[in-house]
Amino acid sequence: MRKLTNVLVTGGAGFIGCNFIRVLLKKTPGFTGRVINLDALTYAGNASSLADIDGEFGGKRYFFERADITDRERVRGIFQKYDIDTVIHFAAESHVDRSILGPEAFIRTNVMGTFTLLDAARDLWRGEGGSMREDVLFHHVSTDEVYGSLGETGYFTETTPYDPRSPYSASKASSDHLVFAYHHTYGLPVTLSNCSNNYGPYHFPEKLIPLMILNMLEGKPLPVYGDGKYVRDWLFVEDHNTAVWAIVNRGKSGEKYNIGGENEWENITLLRKLIGIVAEKAGLDAGKVAETITFVKDRPGHDRRYAIDCSKLKRELGWTQSVTFEEGLSLTVDWYLSNKAWVVNVKSGEYAHWVEKNYTAR
Ligand code: NAD
Ligand code: DAU
Repeated sequence: MRKLTNVLVTGGAGFIGCNFIRVLLKKTPGFTGRVINLDALTYAGNASSLADIDGEFGGKRYFFERADITDRERVRGIFQKYDIDTVIHFAAESHVDRSILGPEAFIRTNVMGTFTLLDAARDLWRGEGGSMREDVLFHHVSTDEVYGSLGETGYFTETTPYDPRSPYSASKASSDHLVFAYHHTYGLPVTLSNCSNNYGPYHFPEKLIPLMILNMLEGKPLPVYGDGKYVRDWLFVEDHNTAVWAIVNRGKSGEKYNIGGENEWENITLLRKLIGIVAEKAGLDAGKVAETITFVKDRPGHDRRYAIDCSKLKRELGWTQSVTFEEGLSLTVDWYLSNKAWVVNVKSGEYAHWVEKNYTAR
């Protein structure tokens, strides 16, 4: 029986991690444990995204530790300080374009960082007699990009061979292999999920959907890579997180689960849909906004199509999505329109100073 009492969330100040912590503490009545958010606060980490959570739960059920997952001593110290029994590992360098410009940080965080966490868990999760405890779990959050690129038909299943093609996806594939190696070699209880493209609140505006929303609102060009006919499968971030929580609670140790939106869109078609929603909500002329679409140089090695078969997750764990794409996009646009302070904070770079200004060590 898994304990799920002291849950270490890595990368909890990032896009998906902060949504995860919010749902866990505010909308998951069955969970009464503590959440320890371990985050290095890179450019993608924004502790102010959890200001409300820190105010309500800080020092009681929510604890923030600014630390790097590659720092062996800090990681071990945090495991021991909070008696960690569950790891939900979101922390990563996550942006494909950045991995093309500078792969090293991806190898360091995604490969070495995952290794450092796994090794701490292997060492510190031994029970009496030296055998691995059974009430612990290491859940690794990964991506559908490890499977490579699809043609016009077909889906990634859990048995699709790995074929990563960018430094980002290669680093995530390496981390996936390490996770299963620790399970098979040392008996570490693990689960793993490979998810498709997320969207929703608190998304850093370097990624397609938030970048396009904010550029539309600011009257800036909308840069579409290549011919715009690349296909992604979009999932609302809260639905990714309910899937992760279902796997952490009921997933079988040693198993991987695909998570997807069953919601494929060509980038250009998605963009036109988004223009309609933003224009209506923000009182803009959709035709004029569409004129700012700009086809730009393609991403090197750009994967053509991702599409996920998530039937295992649905069948075995009973997970379903809570919103349609239209509802999710509408919620997302509403969120960006009504959280202008968050946007200003990110765009000005002020968010990087939130911890030193607001956080009182407890
Ligand atoms: P993100 O870039 O928004 O956040 C990453 C977080 O990790 C940040 O808070 C950052 O400060 C932290 N971090 C980075 N390096 C660190 C280090 N060395 N030590 C400690 N913390 C560090 O990423 P995201 O979009 O929230 O993605 C979270 C996870 O989900 C990643 O593992 C990613 O590969 C995976 N994933 C993302 C998507 C997506 O669409 N965004 C889809 C599938 C899987
Ligand atoms: O599939 C899951 C992955 O989805 C995650 O593992 C990654 O962490 C996450 O960043 C995301 O990767 P993508 O590369 O698919 O996301 P991005 O938002 O960068 O791009 C989505 C698509 O839009 C892709 O085909 C590239 C294109 N694009 C992107 C940007 C930023 C553009 O055409 N213009 C842009 O300005």
